[in-house]
Amino acid sequence: MRTIKIFDTTLRDGEQSAGVNLNFSEKLEIARQLERLNVDIIEAGFPAASKGDFASVQKIAQTIKNCSVTGLARAVISDIDAAWGALKDGAEPRIHTFLATSPIHRQYKLKKTKEEVVETAVETVKYAASKFPIVQWSAEDATRTELPFLAEIIEKVIQAGATIINIPDTVGYTTPQEYGEIFQYLRNHVPSIDKVSLSAHCHDDLGMAIANSLSAIENGATQIEGTINGIGERAGNAALEELAVALYIRNNHYQASTRLNLQEISRTSSLISKLTGMVVPANKAIVGRNAFAHESGIHQDGVLKEKTTYEIISPDLVGFQSNSMVLGKHSGRHAFKNRLCELGLEVADEEANRLFTVFKDLADRKKEMTDDDLAAIVLEEKLSK
Ligand code: KIV
Ligand code: ZN
Repeated sequence: MRTIKIFDTTLRDGEQSAGVNLNFSEKLEIARQLERLNVDIIEAGFPAASKGDFASVQKIAQTIKNCSVTGLARAVISDIDAAWGALKDGAEPRIHTFLATSPIHRQYKLKKTKEEVVETAVETVKYAASKFPIVQWSAEDATRTELPFLAEIIEKVIQAGATIINIPDTVGYTTPQEYGEIFQYLRNHVPSIDKVSLSAHCHDDLGMAIANSLSAIENGATQIEGTINGIGERAGNAALEELAVALYIRNNHYQASTRLNLQEISRTSSLISKLTGMVVPANKAIVGRNAFAHESGIHQDGVLKEKTTYEIISPDLVGFQSNSMVLGKHSGRHAFKNRLCELGLEVADEEANRLFTVFKDLADRKKEMTDDDLAAIVLEEKLSK
């Protein structure tokens, strides 16, 4: 069984979600909650980006002692100096520096040749390694990079002192099979690959961030990067709560687990949603309002008889109180009677059957039937006698 390290970038890539801007105390509050969740690494921000980012990364590095804290730096000496200034007092200072490697980024963004990209990467990784004990290097847009060139530059940055190599799917372009093959290729073509850990960083533009991250694990990645609730640039990053629960539930399949305290997931998700203002979609896996809600009569009847008929995850595993039976037009008699009973509105069987017809008529006109609706139906029946 392998232990996969969880690298949380909610405060860096997550904060890059359009419209999100967290202040100093909000970032600190999130970092404390991520520590309770027991992530391995917190990417606290981008120290060179602004004075505010520098101050919050510094404060988080000084405060958080049970996780490693890191900060992002471009392949620029002044960025690395800013990262060192902010992170040097941390429990385990580590830097995350990156440079784009794909032809499209080399030509249009960096305007550099392959040789110049290698030279910049090597020079900046050497500089970073002269300060930081742990240097993570990311090949931005790795999944659209020529594989021989990707292997070449990775070998050179390892020689220069990188200890973790991250393979970002920056634009969420790759498929699970292709992403796994990239990891396999690198493991077969980079001579020094066994000296470093391999990390996956997936974006969700095609809705494949989690599938790609799991494929990376099957092909040798030992660190997964992502955010809580999957927030992040454009369609977001891999949602860490989904990844951790997938590994927990399908443990036999993946033979890998994380150190996350799964019970803290619901609290962490609500906090991030509240502070970022990004509402969690109701049908979002693991943390959505409907993730443990049953509406149809067939499902409700099954769950009332035996939960595992329609629940592969127990809500309390991730810190939710219980599942819920949403009463609506698809609900059945079993759930209806059960809810009356929970509300202390016990009625005889024959009466319940009559009330169920009234309930169905009303449910046809309403999206969801509330407890007040049920009480009103029972009261009306009693008054009409
Ligand atoms: O998506 C990306 O490529 C990034 C890098 C900075 C790692 O976020
Ligand atoms: Zn990213």
